[in-house]
Amino acid sequence: MHARLDAGHRFASWIGLGLAAFLVSSGAVAQKMEGLAPTPPMGWNSWNGFGCNVDETLIRATVDAMVASGMRDAGYRYVVIDDCWHGERDERGFLQPHTQRFPSGMKALADYVHARGLKLGIYSDVGWKTCGGRPGSRGREFQDAATFAEWGIDYLKYDWCNSEGLAARGAYVTMREALRAAGRPIVFSICEWGENRPWEWAPEIGHLWRTTGDITACFDCVVDHGTWKSSGVLQILDKQDGLRAHAGPDHWNDPDMLEVGNGMSPGEDRAHFSLWAMLAAPLIAGNDARSMSEETRRILTNREVIAVDQDPLGIQGFRHRKSGDLEVWVRPLAEGDWAVVFLNRGREPIDVRFDWRAETIEDVHSHRRVDTAVAKFRLRDLWAANERGDTAAPFAASVPPHDVVMLRLVASGG
Ligand code: GLA
Repeated sequence: MHARLDAGHRFASWIGLGLAAFLVSSGAVAQKMEGLAPTPPMGWNSWNGFGCNVDETLIRATVDAMVASGMRDAGYRYVVIDDCWHGERDERGFLQPHTQRFPSGMKALADYVHARGLKLGIYSDVGWKTCGGRPGSRGREFQDAATFAEWGIDYLKYDWCNSEGLAARGAYVTMREALRAAGRPIVFSICEWGENRPWEWAPEIGHLWRTTGDITACFDCVVDHGTWKSSGVLQILDKQDGLRAHAGPDHWNDPDMLEVGNGMSPGEDRAHFSLWAMLAAPLIAGNDARSMSEETRRILTNREVIAVDQDPLGIQGFRHRKSGDLEVWVRPLAEGDWAVVFLNRGREPIDVRFDWRAETIEDVHSHRRVDTAVAKFRLRDLWAANERGDTAAPFAASVPPHDVVMLRLVASGG
C-alpha cells in the first residue's frame, strides 16, 4: 500500500515537474513576485513636483506630511524617490546614493519610512544611464536588485532611457529575474512609455506598466520639449482606448502619475483624479505634500473615489458614450455597483439629462450590464458627498467646464 502510494507520489511529482518545466519554457508561468498589487498601487513620487531636486530631507518631510494629512490612512503607501538620487558607483560597482543629498544612506531612510507605516520606492533604468544621466542598471541588474533589497526598498520604477539595442520584453524580464533572486517583495513598475505594446507582455513581468509618455500638469494640451513631448490629462486619457482587457489584479495599466495639486484648477484636478479612478490606475500623487492646499488634500483623500479606484474586482472602466464635449464613463464594481463619470471636456457648462431606463450600459469585456428593469440603484454623488435619488428617474445635473460629476450606483440592498 505504502509502496503503491510512494510510486503514485513519485509519478505525480514527475508529472508536476514536467508540467512546470513545460510551463516555464512556454513562458506561461508568471515568475514575478506575485500578489503585491491586488489593487492598483497608491503612493507618492518625487518626479512631477520636484524633478531632479530630491534629497532625504524632502523625503522625510513628505512622509511626515502624508501621515499628518491623512494620505497614509486613505491608502497611499509607497513613497517613491524618482530619478537623480544617485551618486557614483563604488569601486566594486555598487550603487551609492548621492552623499550630500542622502547623507544618512538609503537604509536609514527606509527605516524612517517603514517606522511610519509606509514603504519606500526607488528608480532605476534599463540603460547605462537614467533619463537624468545617472548610473543605469544595464549589465548590473542582479547587483542593483540585491542592493535595493538590502536597503529595504519595496517598489522599483524601472525606466527606458538609453535602451538602444535592447528588446523591451527581455530587458524587463532580466530585472524581474534579478528582483526574484534578490528575494525581497518589491513591486515592479515598468516605465517603458507604451512604446512596445507592454500591455501584451508586461502582465507576467511587472505589477504595472506605463501606457504612454510623460504626463504634464495641464488638462488639455501637448507640450513639445524638442526631442520628446508630454501630454495633458485628456491626451493621456484618449490613449487608453483598447487597453482595458489587459489589466486586472496584480497587473495594471499605468497612465502615469497624478498632477493633482500641481497647478490645474480644482475642477481639472477633480476630473483627473476621477478618471484615473475609473481607469483603475495606480494613484501616485506628485505634488508637494508638505504645503498642499486643503482643496488638494480633499481631492487626494476622497475615500469614496479612492474606493472606486481600489475596487476589488479590478475591472478597468470604459467610455460608454460621447457626444460633443460630454463623455460618460462607466466602471463595474464589486457587489453589483457601478461608477459613472460625466466628463465635460469643453469650456462651457453642459446640462446633462441621463435616462437610466432608456440607456443600455453594457460591459462586453466582463459581461455585465446595468439592468434598471431588474434592479433600481441608489445614486451617490462622490464629490458632493450626497444622495441623488435613484435610477427610476432620469439624472439631471450641470457639469462645469473641465470638470466631472461622479456617481456610484449602489445596487438595491447596498
Ligand atoms: C522618464 C519617466 C518619468 C521620470 C523621468 C526621470 O521621463 O517617464 O516618469 O521618471 O524619466 O528622469
